[in-house]
Amino acid sequence: MGGAQSLSAYDAIARLYDPWSAGVVEDISFYVDEALASGGPVVELGVGTGRIAIPTAMAGVQVIGVDSSEGMLAVCGERGGEAGVAERLDLRLGDLRRPPVEERVPLVTCPFRAYLHLASDEERLEALHAARELLQPEGRLVFDVFTPSVEDVEETDGRWIEREPGIFERADWDLAAQTLTLSVRGPQGASTMTLWWLEPARWHTLLAEAGFDVLACYGWFDRRPYAGGEDSVWIARRSPSPQIATKT
Ligand SMILES: C[S@@+](CC[C@H](N)C(=O)[O-])C[C@H]1O[C@@H](n2cnc3c(N)ncnc32)[C@H](O)[C@@H]1O
Repeated sequence: MGGAQSLSAYDAIARLYDPWSAGVVEDISFYVDEALASGGPVVELGVGTGRIAIPTAMAGVQVIGVDSSEGMLAVCGERGGEAGVAERLDLRLGDLRRPPVEERVPLVTCPFRAYLHLASDEERLEALHAARELLQPEGRLVFDVFTPSVEDVEETDGRWIEREPGIFERADWDLAAQTLTLSVRGPQGASTMTLWWLEPARWHTLLAEAGFDVLACYGWFDRRPYAGGEDSVWIARRSPSPQIATKT
């Protein structure tokens, strides 16, 4: 039930999420380019308020967006309507470990660290198997995660930091458990959630176990190779012959 708590943590900040993440723009064109290259449709797991999904739909690609927060999906629906792309956005309430998606697509994405909401290898493998099931043969899973640096932990641990005007964020790191308890508060709401991080080598192993071939691991959205930084951006292809992926 550890995950269940974090699933609803976003409802309380659905109206705060966009102003909170206003400065996060570096990944948008990367995911839009991946969507265009795939030809669509795209399944975005943890679609949130549509920070990526709406520009993707505006580029002409159909998006099926799954999220466990009703509040986030409501904002996404509104924003999609305002942007004139409601007909290209198919929003579904559900868990990314068991996405309510029957369609098979060339691209599944999980942007902005949403996989870090998964608390154990069991949950991660369940989610990766589920993503694989959604893919057409040779289809791709693209996602990004982070592994904190010692400097980042020392600089931010236990301190409220003004991330955007009037919006404060606090990180409480547990290096032994590899968890980040992230709190945010602002005029539109407040919440606390837990994120679980892994070393990139571990993500690589889990992807292989779930039936993926890793095509690339980038260190940033400009596609520079991963070289030990905090962010890793993954492009994995559905392997034609999984060893364990057929297990449920
Ligand atoms: C950091 S936000 C990312 C939102 C969006 N993809 C973006 O890039 O701005 C993570 C999202 O994942 C959703 N989420 C977390 N755990 C989930 C789960 N188990 N199933 C479905 N959605 C989940 C949250 O509700 C939230 O909207």
